Formats: sequence, structure tokens, C-alpha cells
Amino acid sequence: MTALTAPEARQFTVHPAIIKSIIREQAGSPDKAIAELIMNSVDAGATRVDITFEDGTLTIKDDGRGFSSREEILQVFETFGLPHEEGDAIYGRFRVGRGQIMVYGKVSWRSGHYEMVADLAGEVENFGYHLQEHDTFAEGCTVTVTGTTDPYKPYSLPHSSKSLERDLAEMVAYVAVPVTFNGTVINTLPSQADWTDEDDHAFYSLNRTDWELLIYNKGVMVAKQQAHWFGVGGVVNTKQPLALNMARNAILCGCDVWSRIKLRLKAHYQKRLARVQQLKDHEVPALLEWIVHTDDPIPHELQRKIRSLRFMVDIFGNKQSPEKMLTAERFTLHDRTHITIAEHVHRSGMASVIMPQTIGMLTRGNPTDQDAVDIIGRLIKRLAIFPPNGKSYFKDFQFFVNSLDDTTDDIKDSQLTNEEMLVLRIARAMNVEIYNLVRAPGGVRKISAGKADKVEAWTDGCSYIQIDRGILKNVRHHKCGVNKLVALIVHEYCHGDSTSGTHSHDYDFYQQFHEAILDPDFGKIVDAFFRRYVSGLCRKGIVPSGEHGQHIKQIAKLAQDLPTRSTRKAAAS
Ligand SMILES: Nc1ncnc2c1ncn2[C@@H]1O[C@H](COP(=O)(O)OP(=O)(O)OP(=O)(O)O)[C@@H](O)[C@H]1O
Ligand SMILES: [Mg+2]
Repeated sequence: MTALTAPEARQFTVHPAIIKSIIREQAGSPDKAIAELIMNSVDAGATRVDITFEDGTLTIKDDGRGFSSREEILQVFETFGLPHEEGDAIYGRFRVGRGQIMVYGKVSWRSGHYEMVADLAGEVENFGYHLQEHDTFAEGCTVTVTGTTDPYKPYSLPHSSKSLERDLAEMVAYVAVPVTFNGTVINTLPSQADWTDEDDHAFYSLNRTDWELLIYNKGVMVAKQQAHWFGVGGVVNTKQPLALNMARNAILCGCDVWSRIKLRLKAHYQKRLARVQQLKDHEVPALLEWIVHTDDPIPHELQRKIRSLRFMVDIFGNKQSPEKMLTAERFTLHDRTHITIAEHVHRSGMASVIMPQTIGMLTRGNPTDQDAVDIIGRLIKRLAIFPPNGKSYFKDFQFFVNSLDDTTDDIKDSQLTNEEMLVLRIARAMNVEIYNLVRAPGGVRKISAGKADKVEAWTDGCSYIQIDRGILKNVRHHKCGVNKLVALIVHEYCHGDSTSGTHSHDYDFYQQFHEAILDPDFGKIVDAFFRRYVSGLCRKGIVPSGEHGQHIKQIAKLAQDLPTRSTRKAAAS
């Protein structure tokens, strides 16, 4: 390829429409737009800012230096984006902030002998303002906004002055000059606020209970971040300006002031760790982040402390220390499904079952087995935890599911709900009748409830039959729930051997089962069971499920219309 011409140096230019876009796209909320005006007032040397809001008219009045000449207006007001000189303003950076308020109505700036009026509505292609000279001199600068408060219109001002006052008070909470709203001071001067900590970069009001950390750039809110990123919540109010994006709602990467503040927050968190007995939920991610994702040294004493802090949730929902959870020979990551098996594995010491939520805060989405291996490995190493035989292994949870698919647990009667207990009582009351369908050797077996991940009912073949709680519940939620429950008990009676462990169904089993459920008494039992269930609901005042409720009502209605001998006779004559 041969170039036809030498490269030509050209300048990018902007279309006037970009100004409108910049304004619209950075307009966040009315309180944010007003905060921009307050920042301008402070930059103009104002010693106070007074705001009033009544009948859809908003005024922001300051006693700063205002606009002193037409030249100044053409230079700094008419032109968007004129660069600032280093240190000439506390907040001003981009020379666009004044635009935010323009989307909320017709705006007038009155200062000195001048008035500038911008009315964005209606101006489509060209976007400008009207400049007017007055003979009366106005001190400082007063911005007046007349806009709609109709909440269904875009960019409307708030309907209630109270909500605006509340939002604005949070937005400019620590600005260094008094700000009043309809006559009430809404900010606290940084020198008078109740800080817990202070350094060259910021004032801090930190606490363990807040879920959010509110970040203020020299008194004006920039962002609310989740406390779990820092391990601490509360307020940070900078003394030096942060490097912010143009909308002033995010801190730029590489902001030196913020980097130093973050170090301070980290130090604060680590210092406090040495004193706490238990971590709050939002303090855990910051700790894991520090241990797993950084190589920052952990002082020996702190390492010991962290080992014994209870913050890792186990399969029973209890918080355990890393020492307890990680001093194991084998680990596995719970599959979020097989709870009974996981409890069994953990309780018997086959492996320490790590819950996905404990490590999930460090991964994107559900943690994988590899995530668990990496994170547990880091925790063990960084906290100097020693496995019992010098080495620990990770075992896929599926391994336990395959080998322990018969794991079951008892459930006491007292642990069941009213309705589950009702169903179980009926099963017990009808136990002899069900037994008679099979007449298995060994006689009637005791019926109780249990829980299992993989089986619905089980027996030792002679003395008991246990039914999974889900099957008892199923009677409520499923039309055929009773049918299934009775069939399962029959099924277990057909088993002459224990059904824990792998069990098979041979020809004799099927023949016996087949005969039992084809027995006319089987249907009678199911029917009687359901009637007892409905009468139990009535006695105990339990509302039936929609499905049962409808079914019962339909049957009851049909019963009324059912012909009798006398109605037939009457109809015939
Ligand atoms: N209340 C005021 N008193 C005096 N001058 C003001 C006032 N408000 C705005 N100005 C002037 O208008 C200029 C433009 O304000 P604008 O808010 O758009 O930009 P900025 O404050 O310079 O930068 P930023 O975009 O970061 O806010 C300011 O730099 C300042 O010179
Ligand atoms: Mg500004």
C-alpha cells in the first residue's frame, strides 16, 4: 500500500450539540445539581449559601465575588470546558458543573450588573443563554430556577421541599460554610462535626455498625460504598480534593488522596481486629480479601487472633473459627443441595464442609471446586494453620453424595409442624390396616419421620419405617400426596431387609407390592386417610392448600345436587 499524501496534523472539534449532551447526561438529581451551585459559591469565596424552595421556585444565593465583568462572563460562563489553573478552585475542574441545574427549568444567574438566563427547553439545535445588563448592582450571586414539580415529567423538581431538604442535607453535609434551606442550617462545619479520627487527608467518623461508607469530597458527597469493601462503615470527609470524574460521583483510579485514605481505613480495620471478639457480617469480606488476595504481612499476634475468630459459617449455620474449620485432613465444597449428607460428612469428621457463601464473596458467582482449593489453600498458608498429618486434601462433594446416598436422620415428633404431625398421626392410626395389605413377617412396624437427601422412606425390615418429612409435607401440596404416602409405607412393608445401603427389588418384592396396591382395601385406606386429614384440618383450624380447598368444595357442592330416591320419585310424578 502506497500513501498518497503525507500525514496531515488536524484538530478534533466539537459540535454545539455535545454541550447539551454533556449537561443532560451528567444531570443526576436536583440535590446533586444544587450541590454543584453550592460548590461554585464556595469557589467564589462565599461565606454562606442560602437556599429557598417555594411553589416550584428555587433560589441559591451566595455572598461570594460573583461575576464582575462582561469579559469574565464570556470567558468562564459562556464557554464550557475552559481549563482551570492549578489551585484556583477547591471544587471547580471541568467548567461544566453549572449545566446540571439547567435541565430542571429556566435558570437565571444574577450577579453584579449582569443577568444570564438559560432556558434549555425548546432550544433544539442551538443552545445558548440571554445576557442582560441592569443598572442595579446585586451582591454575590443568586441563581433562580423556575421548573415543574410534576413528578410525571422528566427532570422535575421535587414535589416536597422536605424531601429536597433531606437529600440536600446529606449531599452537602460537611461543606465548610453554613448552608441554609428555607432558613434552617442543613450542614455541619467540619470543625464542629463529631469525628472519631483525623489525619492530613481526611476526617473520619468510623463505626462497626454502618453497612455503608459515605465518602465526601471536602464536604460534598461523592459516593456511598458498601462497608464490606473496607471492613468499616461511617463517613470519610476529605481535607484535600479527590480526583473525580466529570459527574463527580466516582473517584478516579490512581487518586493519590484516596489511596492514602484507603490505607488509613485498612490500618483502622486491622487495628480493631485485634480487639474484637466476633466479626459482623460486613466485616468478613474485607478480612478474606486481605488474607486471600494480598501478600500484606499479617503480624504474628493478629494471625493468632484471626485463627480463633468465628466468622466461617458451617453446614449447621453456626459461625466457626478458621482453626476449627480448616484444621482438617479433607475438605469439600457443599453442593447447595444435599444437606443431610453434608451434615453427616461434617459431623463424622469425614471432611470439613466449606459452605459456598463463606468463600463466595471472593469469587464471581458460585465458587467452583478450584476456587475452594485456591482460597482454602491461601487461608491455611496465611493463617499458619497446620493440618493434622501435615497435608490436607480436597474431595469433590459428589464423591460423598455417591457413597452416602442412603444417609438419613431422625426427626422427633416435636420438631414437626402441626400439619406434618397430623399426617404422621393418621399414618400411625392406620398402620395396622396398611400392614394388613402385606402381612409382612415381623408384624406391624413403628412409623416415624426422618430426613434424607436421596430416599423418601426407609426401614430396617422388621421394627420401623421412617418417612422423609418432604413426603408428609407433600400431603398438603399435592392432590395425590396421600396416595403416595400410603404406597410408600406399603413399599417399605414389602422390604423384609434393611433398605439402608444399596437395596434391590426382586421379583417377589414386586409381586407382593403389586398385589398390595391392587387390593380393594388399598383404595379404601387412601380414601379414609384423606377424610381423616380433612377432618384434622377442621379440628386444628388449619387452612387447606388452594388445591385441596377447591377439591373439597367441589365435592361438597356436588353432594347437595346428588339425586336421592325421593327427588327421583318427585321428578317422575
Ligand atoms: N456563584 C458563582 N459566583 C462566581 N462565579 C461563578 C459562580 N458560579 C459559577 N461561576 C463561574 O462560572 C464558572 C463555571 O462554573 P461551572 O460550575 O460550570 O464550572 P467549574 O466550577 O469551573 O468546574 P466544574 O465543572 O468542575 O464545576 C466557574 O468556574 C466560575 O468562574
Ligand atoms: Mg462548578
